[in-house]
Amino acid sequence: MSIDVAVIPAAGRGTRMRPATRVVPKALITVVDRPAIQYAVEEAARAGAKEAIVIVDLDAGHLVAQHFNLGGALPGLEGIHVRPVVQEEPLGLGHAVGEAAHMVGDRPFYCLLSDNIVRPGFDVLPQLAAGSDDGTVSVVCLRRLHDAMLSRYGVVIPASDVEQDLLDLAGAVEKPGVAEAPSRLGLVGRYLFTPEILAILDKLPPGFGGEIQLTDAINQLGQAGRLRGHIADEDLLDVGTPEGLLQASVCLGRHRFGPQVFDGF
Ligand code: G1P
Repeated sequence: MSIDVAVIPAAGRGTRMRPATRVVPKALITVVDRPAIQYAVEEAARAGAKEAIVIVDLDAGHLVAQHFNLGGALPGLEGIHVRPVVQEEPLGLGHAVGEAAHMVGDRPFYCLLSDNIVRPGFDVLPQLAAGSDDGTVSVVCLRRLHDAMLSRYGVVIPASDVEQDLLDLAGAVEKPGVAEAPSRLGLVGRYLFTPEILAILDKLPPGFGGEIQLTDAINQLGQAGRLRGHIADEDLLDVGTPEGLLQASVCLGRHRFGPQVFDGF
């Protein structure tokens, strides 16, 4: 089964990017020559998605719609239909993904956090699909984390040895910190979900930070034996912080213009 729909949560308030995000929604912050959100839509299109459901806050809704649809499709995005959905209250990442439920229906779907951009040539969605038994088991993208990152990422509970970068998972914990971390394998913003996660999200109480956490729903998939992890070859870029935005701009700019762009700089 090919996965034809992607959910792209982009409704965060961008507090780590103030003052840039006082007016400009964080999804529309420019990285080299296009807004951050466009990289995620392009990646979903490369993986074969025909529909990108972008979850935005009230302020960003019409701007995102205009960006993608004004005057026809953007070059390279003719084959994907971008459909903004407004999350009216900032109740958490899990709540944001749940807002797409009525449009996703009973299809498996990719989920891409727009703060994270894959490095050129290191797409991971095809590997998630390959590990999903034809879209019937959820697969999350993982990276090995340093100590300091264990309080900034969701961390998974392994249930098997790693075989060819794929392992079974028994659950996940949101931002556990070093002392409580069940492993060093972290959730890095790319997921393939079966529609069962939408039913879990629908009933999920608030968790870490008082927000409805996607990681708590992932944990339930793991407890039910319905979750795998794929360990990615490369870090994703993180444009959710000023330092990360600078690194992403350098990485993507070098790729676009060649390393000589910094000659004599
Ligand atoms: C979110 C998720 C977290 C994940 C991270 C990846 O956290 O809640 O599980 O590891 O994205 O970037 P946030 O960065 O929104 O705090």
